[in-house]
Amino acid sequence: MISIAIDGPSGAGKSTIARAVASRRGFLYIDTGALYRAVGLYALRSGVEPKDEAPVIALLEKIKLSLRHDAEGKQHVLLCGEDVSEDIRSSEVSLAASAVAAIPAVREFLLECQRSLAREHDVVMDGRDIGTFILPKAQIKIFLTASSADRARRRFDELRARGEDITYEQVLADVEARDTQDEQRAVMPLRPAPDAVTVDTTGNTLEESIRLLDVLIGNKLRQL
Ligand code: DC
Repeated sequence: MISIAIDGPSGAGKSTIARAVASRRGFLYIDTGALYRAVGLYALRSGVEPKDEAPVIALLEKIKLSLRHDAEGKQHVLLCGEDVSEDIRSSEVSLAASAVAAIPAVREFLLECQRSLAREHDVVMDGRDIGTFILPKAQIKIFLTASSADRARRRFDELRARGEDITYEQVLADVEARDTQDEQRAVMPLRPAPDAVTVDTTGNTLEESIRLLDVLIGNKLRQL
């Protein structure tokens, strides 16, 4: 099996780029952030503060998560049987996901689900710690990044398209808060694997970034 790990901060275009690259190569695309988002959503729905370790841990045994892929390769997240793929995209759930992701027991809870997918399929897996921890033997590792202003602009356009009433300044503050939370947490902080290729997409269109990554991955695959 071949694994391609794509890590990086939120809003660098990871999911769109990873999905496009996976579909061109016939790989399964796995968005691991969706798993943390589903746990965050479950905490919010249960009235639990996502930062509070003990109550979040107590919820884990009730959480049943699975991923399903439709005919177009789009990933759906099932939380206790309910498709929450849309509900997990709000800005409230983004912050909740980042908070629960700092809890070691949550990361442990999601570990096997991610590894088993990579054992069974050729995958393009996007996340924060895929190349460093989840799939340290991934044949190809990419760290995708962009300036926080660029990432906030993309995220702002996305949220406005979803009808959220939010300003660019709020989105930029959220992006920077999440970066700090993700980079400074004690467990598996966001950082490139030593053997990852860093790609900065600042100023690129999505199409340019997809082309860039597709060429890079094509070259790497030929060397395997
Ligand atoms: O990629 P995303 O924005 O959907 O991720 C949501 C949050 O989950 C993000 O703030 C960090 C966390 N996350 C993580 O810690 N490890 C991963 N592999 C994926 C996401």
